[in-house]
Amino acid sequence: MKTDFLVIGSGIAGLTYALKVATECPDKIITIITKASSDETNTKYAQGGIAGVMNLDADSFSKHIEDTLIAGDGLCNKKIVELVVKEGVDRIEELIEWGAQFDKNEEGEYILGKEGGHSESRILHHKDVTGEEMERTLLEAIKKCSNIHLISHCFVLDIITQHHVGYLITKSTPDIECYGVYVLNLHTKKIEKIISKITLLATGGNGQVYRTTTNPSIATGDGIAMVYRAKGRIENMEFIQFHPTALFEAGVRGQSFLITEAVRGDGGILRNQLGEAFMEKYDERKDLAPRDIVARAIDNEMKINGTEFVYLDCRHLNMEKFKNHFPNIYQKCLSIGVDVSVDMIPVAPAAHYSCGGIKTDEWGKTSIKNLFATGECASTELHGANRLASNSLLEAMVFSHRSFITSMQQIDSISFNEEIPDWNAAGTIAPKEMILITQSIKELKLLMSDYVGIVRNNERLHRANRRLDLLHEETELLYQKTEVSPQLCELRNMITVAYLIVKSAELRKESRGLHYNTDHQIKSTILQNTIL
Ligand code: FAD
Ligand code: SIN
Repeated sequence: MKTDFLVIGSGIAGLTYALKVATECPDKIITIITKASSDETNTKYAQGGIAGVMNLDADSFSKHIEDTLIAGDGLCNKKIVELVVKEGVDRIEELIEWGAQFDKNEEGEYILGKEGGHSESRILHHKDVTGEEMERTLLEAIKKCSNIHLISHCFVLDIITQHHVGYLITKSTPDIECYGVYVLNLHTKKIEKIISKITLLATGGNGQVYRTTTNPSIATGDGIAMVYRAKGRIENMEFIQFHPTALFEAGVRGQSFLITEAVRGDGGILRNQLGEAFMEKYDERKDLAPRDIVARAIDNEMKINGTEFVYLDCRHLNMEKFKNHFPNIYQKCLSIGVDVSVDMIPVAPAAHYSCGGIKTDEWGKTSIKNLFATGECASTELHGANRLASNSLLEAMVFSHRSFITSMQQIDSISFNEEIPDWNAAGTIAPKEMILITQSIKELKLLMSDYVGIVRNNERLHRANRRLDLLHEETELLYQKTEVSPQLCELRNMITVAYLIVKSAELRKESRGLHYNTDHQIKSTILQNTIL
């Protein structure tokens, strides 16, 4: 298959880009590939909303910029922060024009929520299901574009570069180029090649590397692993954000239900097993301190009290207002026997967001020619060492727009590479048993949660590295002799991503933002990104 623009991922980053390109170039073909159903994305699960300075009387760009810089703990790129905050407002307006509905009061003004680290209320939201509303809006808009082909259940295996046409590629090879991708079509069970002029990776995050995460099963870091294999640049992978308040349900592993930070923005209070409101011991901003601080405080309280969760107390809040703002959370809690008006909600931190990823410039360009990356898989230097709540959807839209602008300037000078060979599956056989894969996935998640979680130290990182070496060796052997499957490829990608997290964590000899190492508690005076 040939396509002018190839978009991998159907979350906010991929869909926004595709929509813009399709509208600007009605004569060009845009293909969107997604490995699951079209709406199964991190985007769909976003709750709190999207941060934006919508009311210049009460808020200002400089306050949003300042809040982002403070949360990022010294590592944000100020120029990037400024452009995201300022351009973000136009992107939000576009989303509204495409049909997204954000909650308004009776006077028709947007109801703006507040979350940790924000000095003002500036979060636009649609009840507590903002992501669902965005995904719906964008997928409906996409359907109206006849030059967009959306192919679901199609797993991208690798990006195609000079390596696949017989050249030796190393990290120092200049001008590595992307010619398209190999995919496993889950409908036909065949491996196909898709040749493209421009490719956008919008493959989302990697929370599934951990045992407990707010991310759905698609979040296995595939795009990051593919770029690393293709010898592209990856940045700041040690900064994994743990959301402080995922719903604790005994025995539930995989995806945890999120209790949005907006609940604390509306007055919810964290309490330990003794009923104490403990956040005041840790930070003067209490329950609305930035996420890294709140997650570490909860982790500490759980360790002190020997428990698996703390509580989020909403019993004092106006319940009519609560049910109106958070209907989904209210119902979910009720379904597990927690009546928010009389019971406290059991919560615990869970892996939530990857601040690092594929290194991109201010136009979404990766270190590989004709390959862009936007959304959670990219590292734009907006978030630094810790992302400010609700800045992620904003970032995705800003850089998808910027990638679109650059793509328009480049597309007519790029031709298809007609020399791409078919995928070589010689010597591989159908897998005898899946247990080798599923058990390795379990081991990987366990070691990452136990050794590379919220609090780290050198010995734990060293152990994690040794165990990853073994998993890597076993998985590569399996990969060489087994027909590819999504499960095997995801395991391989997650091992790569885990390795990148551990390696980056080892290289950072300080504690900063989300990376907290008890052997290096002092912050270095030298500010630098970790690039692999
Ligand atoms: P995604 O939306 O995750 O989309 C990734 C796409 O890539 C999917 O279509 C997937 O199928 C596809 N894909 C991946 N690998 C492959 C492959 N190998 N082959 C083919 N397709 C592939 N951020 C905010 O700003 N505000 C919030 O309120 C907020 N709340 C959140 C709540 C939850 C529970 C979660 C999990 C995240 C939240 N975030 C929030 C973060 C935000 O939702 C994500 O960072 C953002 O939606 C990522 O969008 P994306 O387009 O980059 O990726
Ligand atoms: C939340 O609603 O608490 C999540 C917001 C975010 O991850 O930005």
